[in-house]
Amino acid sequence: MTKASPRQTSHLPFGFHFAIPLRFSRMRRAIYPGSFDPVTNGHLDVIERARKLFDEVVVAVAHNDEKQPLFSLEQRLDLLQETAGRIENVRIAEFSGLLVEFARAQNAGAVIRGLRAVSDFEFEFQMALMNRSLNAAVETIFLMPKEEYTYLSSRIVKEIARLGGNVSTFVPDCVAKALSGKFSQ
Ligand code: PNS
Repeated sequence: MTKASPRQTSHLPFGFHFAIPLRFSRMRRAIYPGSFDPVTNGHLDVIERARKLFDEVVVAVAHNDEKQPLFSLEQRLDLLQETAGRIENVRIAEFSGLLVEFARAQNAGAVIRGLRAVSDFEFEFQMALMNRSLNAAVETIFLMPKEEYTYLSSRIVKEIARLGGNVSTFVPDCVAKALSGKFSQ
């Protein structure tokens, strides 16, 4: 038997009543933050998994002033827009400052992180607990990508491309082209 949705009943004068379904009132939104320097098939796999769990997934590119990215913020956003941006209920954004502040501003209740191997765990655990202590209302959810992507990272893809290797099975076409453009200069 299906469960009836909760309803809020409004009482009007003269005996008129109407019911408002409460379901529409809370959109489940998650933030998937990262450097995305550049986006890989592993990231896209995590995005596909996350979007099945949430009404909207905001893929948020960190300004990351401390890191020296290969691609500029604009290039990283463009590559994401061309790939993840075409997926339904996925939005691309940028953020600077604290992740939990961005999550709060976006009305998001969750942060998604991909967990590939035990080696990821220590940093991810530290970050999740630190974010929780900064804002306990934001929950971190770890998603595992397909096994074939567990050894994949933006760093390793950049190294292969820099050394002239073929990265076409690890990244979308537009990213492979952007990488060869960078390293053929
Ligand atoms: O793809 P990355 O480089 O692993 O992503 C790391 C990122 C951008 C998610 C992380 O550095 C971050 O959240 N930066 C924002 C600043 C912040 O909130 N720092 C405190 C987190 S413990």
